[in-house]
Amino acid sequence: MSQGRFITLEGGEGTGKSTQAKALALTLETKGYTVRLTREPGGTPGAEVIRELLLSGAEEKWNMRTEALLFAAARAEHCAKLIRPALQRGDWVICDRFIDSSRAYQSVDGLLSDDEIMALHRVGSVNLMPDRTFVLDLPETVAAQRAAARDRGNSDRIGGRNSTYHQAVMANFRQFALAEPQRIRLVDAAKSAEAITEFLVQNLSDMMS
Ligand code: TMP
Repeated sequence: MSQGRFITLEGGEGTGKSTQAKALALTLETKGYTVRLTREPGGTPGAEVIRELLLSGAEEKWNMRTEALLFAAARAEHCAKLIRPALQRGDWVICDRFIDSSRAYQSVDGLLSDDEIMALHRVGSVNLMPDRTFVLDLPETVAAQRAAARDRGNSDRIGGRNSTYHQAVMANFRQFALAEPQRIRLVDAAKSAEAITEFLVQNLSDMMS
């Protein structure tokens, strides 16, 4: 049995992660791999309930620490019930967002430190880390326009935060890619969808048997 691999797609709102996650899953399936495509927050029934709690309602519904704990709780459920079992079977798991989203979003304004967010991850998910992470990078103004066209005025509790917040999120992702270049690859999300998928596949060639 081939070894399962855990691939995550990350980035700000409107950068095309979900489209690329689907395209990558299809491409890997045509190469003969068994792929589980999933997302965060969510991916299992319990984690989808937590997603709804997190993303609906007013900004003040949760403080930043509660929010970080809820993301970690959803992730714990997702890792235990879907991601780890799939990897143990030898499947590839492609996940639309994972721990780097918590590190990028829940740390803005220094509300939680990276150490605190990783401590929650150690407790909740026994520190499961992706084998490779792609950060889809777009200038925040372009990403905001795309997200606005997609959401048509109905952005969720976190997507609706102001552009200063989302710029800080994107800056965090770029910083992670610089700090961990082996795991995290920055992707120019302004390219065509086909060119981006091609780039992702090329950047997984070292993991394909
Ligand atoms: P999505 O719309 O890409 O599915 O993501 C839902 C929102 O949740 C998005 O605004 C990013 C945010 N988010 C966090 O703030 N922290 C996290 O750990 C995750 C997974 C998502």
